[in-house]
Amino acid sequence: MSVDMSTVDEAKLNELLGKVVTDLGAVAAAPLVLLGERLGLFRALADGEDVIPGQLAERTGTTERNVREWLSAMAAGGFLTYEGDDRFRMSPEQSAVFADENSPAFALGGYQAFLSCGSAEERDRLERAFRDGHGVGWQEHHPDLFAGTARFFRPGYAAHLVDEWLPALTGVVEKLRTGGRAADVGCGLGHSTMMIGKAFPNALVTGFDSHRPSVDAARELAAESGVESRVSFEVAGAKDFTGGPYELITFFDCLHDMGDPVGALAHSREQLAEGGSIMLVEPMAGDRLEENLNPLGRTFYGASALICTPASQSQEVGRALGAQAGEERTRQVASEAGLTRFRRAAQTPFNIVYEVRA
Ligand SMILES: C[S@@+](CC[C@H](N)C(=O)[O-])C[C@H]1O[C@@H](n2cnc3c(N)ncnc32)[C@H](O)[C@@H]1O
Repeated sequence: MSVDMSTVDEAKLNELLGKVVTDLGAVAAAPLVLLGERLGLFRALADGEDVIPGQLAERTGTTERNVREWLSAMAAGGFLTYEGDDRFRMSPEQSAVFADENSPAFALGGYQAFLSCGSAEERDRLERAFRDGHGVGWQEHHPDLFAGTARFFRPGYAAHLVDEWLPALTGVVEKLRTGGRAADVGCGLGHSTMMIGKAFPNALVTGFDSHRPSVDAARELAAESGVESRVSFEVAGAKDFTGGPYELITFFDCLHDMGDPVGALAHSREQLAEGGSIMLVEPMAGDRLEENLNPLGRTFYGASALICTPASQSQEVGRALGAQAGEERTRQVASEAGLTRFRRAAQTPFNIVYEVRA
């Protein structure tokens, strides 16, 4: 079918093409951003001093001509600043986003996770999943997805989990302070699990995930950070983890990835101590599509279409909640699991935190 160009509004067409050009720049920038991390280019710029391409190449053991082009691409995107006279620099804001792994704004994990889904192999798998509806399991993806996801979410958890989210739950902080037990379901590489363990030295915390390589990685990280006597990790699904009763059971950015979120919450209810709380950390979303048609919704719907929805479809039940399920659909899942005490306990621009109790 050819478009009748006489029906096309030129101003609207140009506006749309402008968005496409911006996006093509972003797509091209993604591998360059990751390359900048691998080669140490961002780190070498993090002192905020002006550099010329030759200096940066010398400091990082790279080739001046390639580095010059990389610097130009980054400056054109606003990821670095061009000062004129061949000099480039990184502002504190740019450093926070691209160079400082411990900054709350660090974003490289997002690039790592999203880019891992762009290979020809991943696209073939997704095409098959869109046709047959059987999804793509978490374990089928490239390891960069596991590492990238963990790095992407970690800054948000570090900024909010201990100081805001746990205190917003009913009596949980007191229980953990005095030796309570917590289970972190779908823990991935276990950053959230370890944060809880570090903040509450009397508590015992166990992370569970059905993905063995993630559990192995989490165990290594726990050993490195010296919390392994109180923070442990087990391979287990959300419907068959054991060790309760727990004062706190958490699901960080994973309930919607599960095939049977109702089954997962019903099982958690059985593992919950009397008066205990389930904490669900889910992506920020409104209940209606119209509320989510914005840059953040776009990012989350993108992740959902590429990763979360197929992940859920690959499992038993295949509920496929999607990463933009919103409060009402999440409440409905809890209610089907027999958990009717459901409330929004906290939120950030990126996450909604629900407390669910028996
Ligand atoms: C998006 S990642 C989030 C990981 C981690 N909670 C975080 O915030 O970084 C989703 C995690 O849920 C896990 N998962 C998915 N379905 C699961 C299930 N049915 N039982 C246990 N873990 C599951 C995956 O293996 C993956 O590690």
